[in-house]
Amino acid sequence: MELPAELRNAVNQEVTGRSAKDLAKVVEGLSARYRSSLQEPAHSRLVQTLDDAVAYAAFRLPATYGAVYGALSCVKAQLPRFHPRSLLDVGAGPGTAMWAALHPSLWQDCLAEVALLEREEAMIGLGKRLAAHSSLAAIREAQWVAADITEKWEVPSHELVVAAYVLGELPSEAREGFIHQLWDKTQGALVIIEPGTPAGFARILKAREVLLKAAGNLVAPCPHPGPCPMGSDDWCHFSQRVPRSRLHRQVKAAELGYEDEKFSFTAFSRQPGEAVQGRVIRHPQIRKGHVRLKVCTAGGLAEWVVSRKDGDLYRAARNLEWGSPVNLS
Ligand SMILES: C[S@@+](CC[C@H](N)C(=O)[O-])C[C@H]1O[C@@H](n2cnc3c(N)ncnc32)[C@H](O)[C@@H]1O
Repeated sequence: MELPAELRNAVNQEVTGRSAKDLAKVVEGLSARYRSSLQEPAHSRLVQTLDDAVAYAAFRLPATYGAVYGALSCVKAQLPRFHPRSLLDVGAGPGTAMWAALHPSLWQDCLAEVALLEREEAMIGLGKRLAAHSSLAAIREAQWVAADITEKWEVPSHELVVAAYVLGELPSEAREGFIHQLWDKTQGALVIIEPGTPAGFARILKAREVLLKAAGNLVAPCPHPGPCPMGSDDWCHFSQRVPRSRLHRQVKAAELGYEDEKFSFTAFSRQPGEAVQGRVIRHPQIRKGHVRLKVCTAGGLAEWVVSRKDGDLYRAARNLEWGSPVNLS
């Protein structure tokens, strides 16, 4: 999943004139702060300066954009009649979720109003500069609101609400109240996305529990609102492949021209979504004459084998991907 050209060019302009060596130093500092925040609840501000914000946009935004796009695509498939006019991006960083939601294959045709909540002035300043490069009025005219989201926020409710890669940055004691506030501000659908790690998934599972109690309709990725069948040694996550720029490879001393961003998410809606039998939770194994699928279903985790003898089902199974919904009967 590539960044839209307008966003890619805007980010490139921000890094132009900065040396790879200086950027590498900022990226290393930022990564070290993220790593140490994983050990203990994050009470500190991870991104504070303009250099931090630019480094985030150049080295993390392509991956978080891919993850948000992946999660929102699943939500769109489950809610085909949902045409949100307004979006609230909470813990927006440089506006990642706004750019993803306004992708032509998602809700570009209906989203007209965007509000973004973010604490760091440096992120807000950068987000506004990036947005100025967009050909879409919804992005250019988005409202940026400086707010600490661990406190009560005074923004109207919106049809689509997204909180991406932010839950883990909040002190653990603030998370449940934060999830309730997100749901209060949601008229249509709420999507919460976290890194696809055991810790990220644990936060998603907790959010799922809170939102089920708040009587939301669980629309994705789970095909059922029952207890999560994932064992304690595993975690539910998905993956998006995102290209790495030359600068990215240089600064991160990376050889591959892409990275696979792993993410976990949960999505709830005021209206029920389309029913599905299951969701593919690993890369399907396509073998000679059969396809083996690991699927989450209302009855628990299952291994489905679809063979050539199954005709149309087999042809359908060959097109499934990690994350696809499945209705194979
Ligand atoms: C990892 S970044 C994610 C940015 C964006 N959502 C994305 O997916 O790329 C987390 C963002 O949450 C913001 N944030 C963290 N704690 C916050 C708080 N208490 N109030 C407002 N924003 C906060 C940070 O400043 C940062 O921009």
